Amino acid sequence: MTAVTRVSALSDKLAALRADFPILSREIRPGVPLVYLDSAATSQKPSMVIDAESEYYRQFNANVHRGVHTFSEQATSAYEGARRKVRDFIGAAHVNEVIFTRNATEAINLVAYAWGLANLHEGDEIVLTEMEHHANIVPWQIVAGMKGAKVRFIPITPEGRLDLETYPRLLESGRVRMVALGHISNVLGTINPVSQITAAARAAGALTLIDAAQSAPHVQLDVKSLGADFLALSGHKMLAPTGIGVLYGKRALLEVMPPFLGGGSMIDRVTMEGTTFAGLPQRFEAGTPNVGGAVGLSAALDYLHGVGLESIQNHEHALIAYAMEKLAAIPGLVMYGPPPAERTGLVSFTVKGVHPHDLAAMLDNEGIAVRAGHHCAMPLHDKYGVPASVRASFYLYNTFEEVDKLVETVDKARLFFAPRAK
Ligand code: ALA
Repeated sequence: MTAVTRVSALSDKLAALRADFPILSREIRPGVPLVYLDSAATSQKPSMVIDAESEYYRQFNANVHRGVHTFSEQATSAYEGARRKVRDFIGAAHVNEVIFTRNATEAINLVAYAWGLANLHEGDEIVLTEMEHHANIVPWQIVAGMKGAKVRFIPITPEGRLDLETYPRLLESGRVRMVALGHISNVLGTINPVSQITAAARAAGALTLIDAAQSAPHVQLDVKSLGADFLALSGHKMLAPTGIGVLYGKRALLEVMPPFLGGGSMIDRVTMEGTTFAGLPQRFEAGTPNVGGAVGLSAALDYLHGVGLESIQNHEHALIAYAMEKLAAIPGLVMYGPPPAERTGLVSFTVKGVHPHDLAAMLDNEGIAVRAGHHCAMPLHDKYGVPASVRASFYLYNTFEEVDKLVETVDKARLFFAPRAK
């Protein structure tokens, strides 16, 4: 086996970069530093983001789009500035194509309910993939159940790739109205060939939704080259606060979609007899939005641009290649998904004879934070015939030394729980 390199595009900057994240200097217990390998669940936040959100609450907290007073205007300007920044970040054509939501889950629900209830009919089909997170399965199952539509799945291969031979056959039914898939799997790390999939969907007359929750933090997104009709992302996985997410939708589609949630801010005129609705993007943003979260997201995008998404991707690829080579040497350890070159910086694995929760508890004892369980992807775990796995996920602030500590501790757990595992 060739020894993989321990350098990346961020090697020289890593110490300074880690100093930007106050939580990374914490110890879990005296003398046990934090090794945070759970960024796919939520990323840590740099001071720049924490300060930006705090400044909003300290300096100009007010509701948006309502008051004529100075703070309301400042808050509105910051909130709408964040929307423009998201537009540029994802390559959207119009600022009105950016809808703020709580998270990617809410963005997907918005499309499933608002578009799905108005457009799906008995016998129509929605195509998902077997590697979806529950957020991109459950809303479609609910709405399909309400409309008599069917949910079908693009299978995955044993290596954790989408089965692209079966996909065109699913489209042949002529009943597929929506193809919704994750850009990057939160369990396998697989980077899916999204443009190819959306092009085939378009040719078959179907719309597409891309769940970019796991890709937006790591790769440069461009909704046009992805061919996405809709795209969902969560701020908290990309250095921003929790509670702020984004739905991108093509303007022509959003303009004719009925609202999802009703209430203040999303109306044009309300009478006792009925309501007419506001235009984009307000029609889909009922109630007081998460202004502080949007301000934090804006700062997070500035931070990501400052470091550079190409450098981040290069660093994560170096970490995952190194981690997978080292983990492969542990007897009884099985990793799921494709080789490092085809994935982002995360790896899910099981160790023969060791329950994933016991393994995660032992890692936690050494200060190493990982996720154990089904990672909100039960169908995918069913496919592999395991109820749970351990997932280590890396981000721009992780180091090769942290990977060494993970590997040493996993091997220690294996020797403790299953000394004879092969
Ligand atoms: N979807 C997040 C994860 O995969 C929460 O951990």
